[in-house]
Amino acid sequence: MHSRRALLYMPGDDRRKIEKAATLGVDCICMDLEDGTALSKKAEARMVIAQAMKELHFGSSERCIRINSIGSGFEKDDLASALAAKPDSIVVPKIESAEQVKWVSDQIESFELSNQLHLGNIRLLIGVETAKGILNLKEIAEADKRLEAIIFGGEDYAASIGATRTREATELLYARQAVIAACAANDLQAIDIVYIDFKDLEGLRLESEQGAGFGFSGKQVIHPNQVPVVQEAFTPSNEAIAYAKRVVESFESSQQEGKGAYALNGRMIDMPLLKNAQKVLERARAAGRI
Ligand code: COA
Ligand code: MG
Repeated sequence: MHSRRALLYMPGDDRRKIEKAATLGVDCICMDLEDGTALSKKAEARMVIAQAMKELHFGSSERCIRINSIGSGFEKDDLASALAAKPDSIVVPKIESAEQVKWVSDQIESFELSNQLHLGNIRLLIGVETAKGILNLKEIAEADKRLEAIIFGGEDYAASIGATRTREATELLYARQAVIAACAANDLQAIDIVYIDFKDLEGLRLESEQGAGFGFSGKQVIHPNQVPVVQEAFTPSNEAIAYAKRVVESFESSQQEGKGAYALNGRMIDMPLLKNAQKVLERARAAGRI
């Protein structure tokens, strides 16, 4: 799966920001037709994105297009124009049911079939950011094999449940952890909330490290300065990689000696710790650190 440590949004009608994004070495670039684009600019944004997709080089960044939510009235035109630009991924916000996931995936499949693309060529990422979406997470996460990641929208979710957003984000804890569990159960990536105070890079670092510690694979970002901080936080440190390698190697030899649990540097190691070490190595590999 593509590494998605940072997913950077920019308004779809802002060519300058799309150009800038392409120079940042960010894992994912998400050209937005939804809330980053004014209601009066939807049609213009579709055209700007189509043009940028034709003309710009995005390096190894994933090229994502976020359409408006299903039921907004914009979704069909957004999806048709986004697919015609042949992005790496389509992002659909405010998903609330498995049917909605299947509807999008079917539309993408029809496009792939009629354009001689491999089935599954265009990936699907979804936003879950309403009370209904959180309640239906299980069926949503299992809905379709094209799905690769669930993006949790903290601001929309707070609005949906009537919570006051705080710096500590305790009002979002239940939903963030529910998203992580649903993703882990289905081998999906989980992408954490935006830190909207984009000048506060220290606060961003703390929230990113917390998200990485919870089990998120990455975080949404809204400003170029947030990219390196977030990508660093979601990349295992050299010490974490070295320790994970030691766990994997020592686990193999202890199994050969017939021991399920053993001590490494004064700490117990058994199967769950091995699995955790393997996850660290997977992340390091995805981030190009191994
Ligand atoms: N993607 C790419 N480039 C961006 C960017 C983004 N999200 N946000 C800012 N930049 C660029 C600016 O164009 C500017 O580049 P320039 O000097 O070459 O013109 C540079 O980074 C510095 O920008 P700055 O002046 O600090 O920010 P701003 O005041 O212009 O914009 C925001 C602030 C919040 C409006 C802007 O960051 C933004 O639009 N973010 C994304 C919003 C969005 O998409 N929301 C929906 C999803 S949550
Ligand atoms: Mg949202």
